[in-house]
Amino acid sequence: METKKQVSLKQYNTFGIAATTPLFVKVTSSLVLQEVLKDVRFKDSFILGGGSNVLFLKDLSLPVIKIAIPGIKIIEENEDVAIVSAGAGVVWHDLVMWCIANNLGGIENLSLIPGLVGAAPIQNIGAYGVELSDVFHNAIGIGREKGGSRIFYLEDCEFGYRDSIFKNELKDSYIITTLRLSLTKKNHRLNIDYGALSQTLEEMGVHSPTISDIAKAVTRIRSQKLPNPELLGNAGSFFKNPIVSNQKIKTIQNKFPGVPTYPIDGNYSKIAAGWLIEQAGFKGQQHGNVGMHKEQALVLVNYGNASGSELWNHAQRVIAGVKQLFDLTLEPEVNLIN
Ligand code: FAD
Ligand code: EPU
Repeated sequence: METKKQVSLKQYNTFGIAATTPLFVKVTSSLVLQEVLKDVRFKDSFILGGGSNVLFLKDLSLPVIKIAIPGIKIIEENEDVAIVSAGAGVVWHDLVMWCIANNLGGIENLSLIPGLVGAAPIQNIGAYGVELSDVFHNAIGIGREKGGSRIFYLEDCEFGYRDSIFKNELKDSYIITTLRLSLTKKNHRLNIDYGALSQTLEEMGVHSPTISDIAKAVTRIRSQKLPNPELLGNAGSFFKNPIVSNQKIKTIQNKFPGVPTYPIDGNYSKIAAGWLIEQAGFKGQQHGNVGMHKEQALVLVNYGNASGSELWNHAQRVIAGVKQLFDLTLEPEVNLIN
């Protein structure tokens, strides 16, 4: 295994923050990972995928293990369903494209989400009406303490909205090395109910969409709304959409009748945080090197060479502004790394 000392992480995070780590290693297989975990220098490390959901607040004191485990294959199939296995280091969107090329349905709505396969279960990635949990078969994780492997099935993962057991009870306990998805070979269960998606398919003149059409439509929406991290540093939605009681929603609606809400059950709904941030006046407003994006107010942007703390200071300004106007506290979706 080849380790490097004092490495800049600028190219390894989509905010483009120039934080450093004292020690860096890339792992290309589970066996190499197990070797690395035996090395006392890596006992406490930060696990890095594509760096598209992290904010480095300052230089890291921890070593970094960068996941680069490759491979995509079908490991089991019958007439209707295929179980696809992918290494944690595969680029998520490459997996989506591979599945579409092989006519396997289930993750087309998750096209163009940045990052690697291994991070997908951590926050249960989701977009345009589909979440990873809808197609999750299982995942293999290596225990950080003892180096043994464990299979996590759907019922083990406690998936929720941008949430899983890996962010809670098992935080920093396991490193995902392999993800297995259960995908359809025919009679794909298309999910086109998300407003922007059905609208875009209509604009494209598509009336009976294929999984490939859905991927194209999602790609089109995302390219219009979300800044490309290669051009403008960002980590997607910086905050989660708050889940609040319907009673609270009524209070907000009395003052702001247009608030976009999404029912969860009879008692709770999600509120669009981008809308809250826009009402609070932050959309498209630049503070020095940072600001909330002009097309999508939920996306915190690095316009230049912002540091992690500059970005976090602005996020706190936004939290305070939304709190003052709506009496709601936004919570970061992005992982804050000290
Ligand atoms: P990283 O940022 O490297 O890591 C994220 C967290 O997971 C860290 O805590 C890290 O330690 C941990 N981790 C990473 N790999 C592993 C592993 N193998 N085992 C254990 N822990 C690990 N997300 C959505 O859900 N939906 C979206 O629509 C969406 N759109 C986005 C759009 C843009 C433009 C950007 C920049 C981001 C978007 N995201 C979205 C967020 C991000 O793409 C996802 O959270 C993605 O899964 C992060 O993957 P990553 O490999 O970059 O993870
Ligand atoms: N809105 C505004 N102003 C804005 C942004 C949004 O009023 O500046 C309103 C929109 O008009 C719409 C509503 O908010 O009525 C929802 O907007 P959008 O469809 O863009 O979705 P979102 O709730 O802002 C979520 C996810 C995204 C995901 C999209 C599509 C979260 C935190 N974000 O965004 O995920 O791609 O839905 O499913 O749940 C991410 O996690 O990084 C991410 C980009």
